[in-house]
Amino acid sequence: MKKHLVIGAAGQLGVELVLALQAKYGTDQVVVADIRTPSDPAVLNSPFVHLDATDLDAMQAVFQGGAYAAVYHLAAMLSAVGEKRPLAAWDLNMASLLNVLECAREGLVERVFWPSSIAVFGPATPKHDVPQEAPLDPTTVYGISKVAGEGWCRYYHAQYGVDVRSLRYPGLLGHRSLPGGGTTDYAVDIFLSAVRGERYTSFLGPDSALPMMFIEDAVRATLELMDAEAEAVHIRTSYNLAAMTFTPAELAAAIRERVPSFEIEYAPDSRQAIADSWPASIDDQAARRDWGWHHAVNIGELVDVMLEAWEQRLATSAARSAQ
Ligand code: SER
Repeated sequence: MKKHLVIGAAGQLGVELVLALQAKYGTDQVVVADIRTPSDPAVLNSPFVHLDATDLDAMQAVFQGGAYAAVYHLAAMLSAVGEKRPLAAWDLNMASLLNVLECAREGLVERVFWPSSIAVFGPATPKHDVPQEAPLDPTTVYGISKVAGEGWCRYYHAQYGVDVRSLRYPGLLGHRSLPGGGTTDYAVDIFLSAVRGERYTSFLGPDSALPMMFIEDAVRATLELMDAEAEAVHIRTSYNLAAMTFTPAELAAAIRERVPSFEIEYAPDSRQAIADSWPASIDDQAARRDWGWHHAVNIGELVDVMLEAWEQRLATSAARSAQ
């Protein structure tokens, strides 16, 4: 059986995707790579390779070390942190993708997954129900790198027959790991404050409506897209993908229904301009039509799961530090 390689396995999505791949294929069939060692012990049940994804020779050596059915290349600098270091974000996001695509062109791996994002959209994009073929005019370096990356994916597919597949993820919320450096991170941070009994200060204003998704839905979408027949995958840039839309005020209200003492205040910072440039909702009918996508989790269920899971994590770490 051929293996599955996750690059960026220590990140928010990487951890969850590795666990899903381990459950599906077995821990020995998954190889995890990152520039830092993953802190989740379950991730390290699979072999770990230290990898700087911008180093082509190092990446080729990893692929040459085994036979790979698929690579999931998740390493990237996200929207907010990318604005602090624009050239470094461009270098990391582009060089690492081109390295993966080159390895696939050389036949070192059969299938490639690479995430795009709602960050490809910008002020010229409609605010609501953004169609698949919408204007792409990102204002962030992260978004620019995702638009360019989508073009490279289509190019490698058309010119070299590389089987590369991609999704434009909305903001992702999970409870196994924290996001790092994104504009949608508030939607995870808010739960930590809620379970700690702390007031949350949101870096986005109360009415910033953004597309969001429970991370388990995003992982399932990824696995379903990767399992689809190549002929069914008509879009070789990146698929729109959607589940729900909410604002910080709506999320806070849903939390308050379950935690009545929860309080929020608003102190928008530079991330507000990024959020303002993104749409509120996405039309993902191409994904639904081509490979049967449907989301499972809406805001009520999401808030229940997130509160319970983060409470549990807090209790476990408190018990550990009391020992
Ligand atoms: N969650 C990402 C970010 O906020 C968007 O892809 O940067």
